[in-house]
Amino acid sequence: MTPDPDSGSDPDSGSDPDSGSDPNPTPDPDSDPDSGSDPNPTPDSGSDPDPDLDLDNPYLDAVEEGVAVGACRATLSDRGLELARHRRHLAEEYAWGIPNAQAVATLRDHDPILEVGAGNGYWAWLVEQAGGDVVATDPVAPTWAAADDVELYADVEPLSAVEAIDRYGHDRTLFVCWPSEGMAWPADVLAAYEGETVVYVGTGRGACNADHGFHRRLFDGFELDETVAIPTYDTCTDRLEVWRRDRSE
Ligand SMILES: C[S@@+](CC[C@H](N)C(=O)[O-])C[C@H]1O[C@@H](n2cnc3c(N)ncnc32)[C@H](O)[C@@H]1O
Repeated sequence: MTPDPDSGSDPDSGSDPDSGSDPNPTPDPDSDPDSGSDPNPTPDSGSDPDPDLDLDNPYLDAVEEGVAVGACRATLSDRGLELARHRRHLAEEYAWGIPNAQAVATLRDHDPILEVGAGNGYWAWLVEQAGGDVVATDPVAPTWAAADDVELYADVEPLSAVEAIDRYGHDRTLFVCWPSEGMAWPADVLAAYEGETVVYVGTGRGACNADHGFHRRLFDGFELDETVAIPTYDTCTDRLEVWRRDRSE
């Protein structure tokens, strides 16, 4: 993945999601690893919810000994600490959010999808493997990949998020994974999008992703329909959320 041109910053920079209370915590489907009797539990990196979904997911393969699904504190193992240290490198190689089969199946079930800020197209590649229809866009990744002669995982069209809406309209589910921290474009694309469904992978308000305007627009304009736990690094609280347009007013 190319570095974010907006800030040049690591999306993890700034707030540590563990350091304060997450104002929008997602109910954790897994128990707190601290509360169990096993001080060094084997992390669960995700059971496959769809036995027919046979994904080539090298990212999950690479991290599965050190992450756990839906955990704020992914694992107590040394491997978890090691992975957390290499997280930026792994994110650039694959993606910031770690996809598991359940998340990919959920996306596939909401296709057709327009992904904005898609980075190197890793999530889109998995959705395509699952048989989903996804258009991946990012204003920088394709140029960066071409310059460095790097293969993207999927076709990524060189469009900003708002340009992507202008090009593809409002009939697709809008998907965004780890939108840039503190940047305006995630809120801008929600303002531009008139469709029904947004799938968001990231942390809650006040943590690592987007700005308050983005989270406020989600809360004001949409209702949380579904949450899917994904594997997380130590200290991370990201998850997949499906938001439906609130047309009650
Ligand atoms: C933190 S990265 C996340 C990338 C990818 N979704 C992932 O999970 O690895 C944020 C991405 O937003 C892209 N970006 C920057 N400005 C953008 C804009 N105006 N519209 C859409 N994407 C943008 C960056 O190029 C970068 O790929």
